[in-house]
Amino acid sequence: MEFFLDTANIDEIRAAKSQGLMDGVTTNPTLLAREGGDWRKQAAIICMEVDGPVSLEVVGKTAAEMLMEAEYLTKFGNHVVIKLPMTTEGLIACKTLTDKGVKTNVTLVFSPMQALLAAKAGATYVSPFVGRLDALSHSGMELIKQIRTIYDNYGFKSKILVASVRNPMHVLDGALIGADVATIPYSVIEQFVKHPLTDSGLAAFSADWTQLTGK
Ligand code: E4P
Repeated sequence: MEFFLDTANIDEIRAAKSQGLMDGVTTNPTLLAREGGDWRKQAAIICMEVDGPVSLEVVGKTAAEMLMEAEYLTKFGNHVVIKLPMTTEGLIACKTLTDKGVKTNVTLVFSPMQALLAAKAGATYVSPFVGRLDALSHSGMELIKQIRTIYDNYGFKSKILVASVRNPMHVLDGALIGADVATIPYSVIEQFVKHPLTDSGLAAFSADWTQLTGK
């Protein structure tokens, strides 16, 4: 499973990169707004820091607007993936960009049918939002299972990108189902590392070593 970092924060990107835990980055308007300043500069720095795919999202409503934005965003680097909304206009833009060989990420996917449409439009990545579904008492993981089944049934190559991740179980369950990628907030990556038995084991080793060596 590939790990993307769901952030526009440079410190988080550098930290995950140094641990070998970052295969790419996804941003969105909210994440860029959280960082403040000039989003273009922030996007340029992110694209310099990250070797893998970087999703940059369009905000236009029509396909024509989205395609104009995509033209600008692809200038940030060859590894830029154009993030498009799961709307009729977004699908038109997705098909057009796919035909031109531009990588796409169809976002705000909440149903298996939406995922099927995104795959038919040629999306490189399809982003089902599991956390937001769980928050409404719908099962985000059930959606991942359904999409996996549909894509396998028909040999769709679109990658399932588990998004709106809230906890380590979202990533683990996604991996068990066979989702291709999870985009993860840095705070959740930090939770993966920790285990109380690792901490108590380390404390015991350290105490025994002090007893043996006096250091
Ligand atoms: C993914 O690409 C999205 O930007 C992200 O996961 C959104 O999730 P959230 O706003 O529900 O956290």
